[in-house]
Amino acid sequence: MSSLDSFIELNDGVKIPNFGLGLYLVGSGSEAELSLLFALKQGYRLLDTAQFYENEADVGKAIKKSGIDRKSICVVSKVWDSNHGYEATIKSVKNSLSLFQLEYVDIFLIHSPGSGRNIDTYKALLELKGQGLIKSVGVSNFGIQHLKGLEEAGLPTPSINQIELHPFCRREKLVDYCREKGICVMGYCPLARGKCFNDPDLINMAKEHNKSVAQVMIRWSLDKGFVTIPKSSNPKRIQENMEVFDFKLTEKNHQILVFSLHFVYYIYTFISECI
Ligand SMILES: NC(=O)c1ccc[n+]([C@@H]2O[C@H](COP(=O)([O-])OP(=O)(O)OC[C@H]3O[C@@H](n4cnc5c(N)ncnc54)[C@H](OP(=O)(O)O)[C@@H]3O)[C@@H](O)[C@H]2O)c1
Repeated sequence: MSSLDSFIELNDGVKIPNFGLGLYLVGSGSEAELSLLFALKQGYRLLDTAQFYENEADVGKAIKKSGIDRKSICVVSKVWDSNHGYEATIKSVKNSLSLFQLEYVDIFLIHSPGSGRNIDTYKALLELKGQGLIKSVGVSNFGIQHLKGLEEAGLPTPSINQIELHPFCRREKLVDYCREKGICVMGYCPLARGKCFNDPDLINMAKEHNKSVAQVMIRWSLDKGFVTIPKSSNPKRIQENMEVFDFKLTEKNHQILVFSLHFVYYIYTFISECI
């Protein structure tokens, strides 16, 4: 069974933890810094932020204050859509670095593929990787056709595709495609944004394993082999979410969850898999 110290090796040789802290809506300033410091102290080593989240400066400050060796922390950020394009991406990533006050960012992703400037944006990230400012280049919210677009342009395969994944949003076709191509699958919203905690199957599984529903959902992601990044800004829940390495869901649990349905997620997954 994996542990908090388990790593996954990406297709470019970079190693990253398979569990980390999501940082969307953690707030900013001292509030965010406190949650981050607490998480780092407890053992979290992967931090998932984005230009859009406006907390890159807080991440950098917390890393410095923690006193933890920079090399043992994996920082993920994402180029926001309005910064897409070759020159704009270079400028925005350099701006992110100065907000972080870091010499490099471990992983930079294209936040989403909608801008129509994926190729130039991706080329800019590769250039920054060449300069040592980024260790690994990936994408987020890319469907199969977007990934094929990069391949057809003769570009190297992204190291990661970060997509929404939880028992109600399984994206099997896309996950299989990423795995065939050697792309690491990082799942966001592992707790379905807290919207499905009253699901009876999850509640039963939580009782069976003497865990919370949130822990069952995080374990589902880990059992599936996804890198997972639950968000919390509450110390008790930050702690709870990392206590998932002492149990596994059973085969029967997984079989039951294959049939999990939530109307909104069903429609979302159906549309996503069709385009
Ligand atoms: N690439 C993308 O487009 C994209 C999109 C969405 C998210 N993400 C990334 O993925 C991360 C996770 O997704 P998310 O933040 O949207 O949703 P999430 O992690 O699925 O759920 C977070 C919600 O669950 C609550 N929560 C956390 N732990 C809990 C627990 N043990 N018990 C009960 N409630 C709990 C949190 O509240 P408290 O904070 O109050 O605990 C928050 O309301 C983001 O922070 C971000 O880094 C990426």
